[in-house]
Amino acid sequence: MAIVVAGSLNMDFVVTAARLPAPGETVLGGGFAMLPGGKGANQACAAGRLGAGLPVKMIGRVGYDLFADHLKASLAAAGVDVSAVHASRTQPTGVAFICVEAGGQNSIIVAPGANQELGDAGAMRQVFRGARIALFQLESPLDTVRAALTIARQEGLVTILDPAPAQPLGDAILSEVSILTPNESEALLLVGESPRRLTPEEAAGVAQALRAKGADRVIVKLGDAGCLLADEGRTRLVSGFAVEAVDATAAGDVFNGALAVALAEGRSLDEAAHFANAAAALSVTRRGAQSSVPSRAETDALLAGS
Ligand code: RIB
Repeated sequence: MAIVVAGSLNMDFVVTAARLPAPGETVLGGGFAMLPGGKGANQACAAGRLGAGLPVKMIGRVGYDLFADHLKASLAAAGVDVSAVHASRTQPTGVAFICVEAGGQNSIIVAPGANQELGDAGAMRQVFRGARIALFQLESPLDTVRAALTIARQEGLVTILDPAPAQPLGDAILSEVSILTPNESEALLLVGESPRRLTPEEAAGVAQALRAKGADRVIVKLGDAGCLLADEGRTRLVSGFAVEAVDATAAGDVFNGALAVALAEGRSLDEAAHFANAAAALSVTRRGAQSSVPSRAETDALLAGS
C-alpha cells in the first residue's frame, strides 16, 4: 500500500444560497444535493483518483445504513481499498450540512456519528505496515489520531496531518507529524492567535512557530495565493492558480490527497505542493466534495499550461 488515509466519511447535504444566513435568520436557498464527503474520505478519493493506480486504503467507520454503501462505493470507484472501513453497531454514518454561498465560500456543521468510533489505533499497525504515507485529519477522536500517528511513525511512514476542523493541539501530537497542512485560520489557532488573512511573510512566521512546536515540516494553505512551505529553517511561497471559484468545499482535502500522491511518486516537497495547488484549484471550479476531485489528466494539463 502506498497511501493510507485514517479518518472520516460523511454524507454531505449541500444547499446553495446567495449568502450564508446570520444567526436567527432564514435565507431562501437554491439547489440541494446529497454528495459523498468527509475530510478523510475526500482525501482518500483525491489520492485514488489522482494516483491513477497508486494503491490507496481508507481506514474509517460508517453506520449500518444506505449512506454507508454509497460512501464506500464512491471511494471504490476512485480506486480506494475500503476493506478497512467497518460498520458501527450503534452509530449512524456521519453527515455534514453544508451551505455554499455565491463566490464559493461555505459553512459546515458535521454530525460525526460513526466517525467517533474510528477504532483501536493498535489495529491500524497492520494496515500501516509497508505503506509510505499516512494521512490524518481531526474529524475523528483526538486520542485515536494521536495514537495512530505514533504507530504510523514507528512503522516508518511519512505522516501528514490536516488539522481540520481546527482545534488546539499539544506539542506531543505535533511532534508525531512529518508534514502539517493547516489553512490560515487553523495555523493561527494552533499558535494561539485569532483568525485573519496572512501575508506570505506572516504565514512564514506562523509556520516556523509550528515547526518549533514539533512538526517536521509545515505547509500553510493560502487559497488561490498558493501555499507557504517551511522546513529546516527555510520558508518559501509556492504560487497557486487563479480560477473561477464556485465551491471551495474539500479544496483542502484535495490538496492533501494530491500532496500525498506526488510525495509517494518520489517528488520533492516543492514539486508536490505545486501539484497539490493545481488539483485544489481545479476542485474549487466544481461543486461538492468528492464530485469536485479532478482527474490526473486534468491536473497534468493545468500544470503543463502553467
Ligand atoms: O472538507 C470538506 C468536508 O468537511 C465535507 O465533505 C464535509 O463532510 C466535512 O467533513
